[in-house]
Amino acid sequence: MKTNRTFTMIKPDAVANGHIGAILDHITKAGFKIVALKYTALSAQKAGEFYAVHSERGFYADLVSFMSSGPIVAAILEKDNAIADFRTLIGATDPSKADKGTIRNLFAKSIEANAVHGSDSDENAEIEGSFFFSAFEKF
Ligand code: PPS
Repeated sequence: MKTNRTFTMIKPDAVANGHIGAILDHITKAGFKIVALKYTALSAQKAGEFYAVHSERGFYADLVSFMSSGPIVAAILEKDNAIADFRTLIGATDPSKADKGTIRNLFAKSIEANAVHGSDSDENAEIEGSFFFSAFEKF
């Protein structure tokens, strides 16, 4: 089902480097409406659950360790064509391959510390958003 919503996290590197405000500014200036927002942190167990789909990949342990290393910002965003437009806005997973002006080009340091997450499908956006937000916290 198409929802026009996506889910994002501002990852521990970008939070630690003071980029929350600048990243949210990029997101809203690109036309996304914030419909849920939370400053929080993932335990190693919760990060492992969130990224369980990648549990067979070689980087899984590093990814879980990194994503539980400090606070994050979780948000649900709304815009026409949200999934594809947000992935364009953030750029390639590896920041060295991200287009100029994308969020990862501007704020990410490495393929692990890559500043932001963006859902890859409507179905996963719903699952991921519900991982962090109850029905009462989504507007
Ligand atoms: S994507 O966006 O799902 O198509 O990207 P993918 O390459 O499949 O990566 C999935 C998530 O794993 C992270 N990742 C890594 N973390 C640590 N080390 C290495 N080498 C690495 N490669 C990929 C990547 O940032 C994706 O995280 P999310 O939060 O989904 O963006």
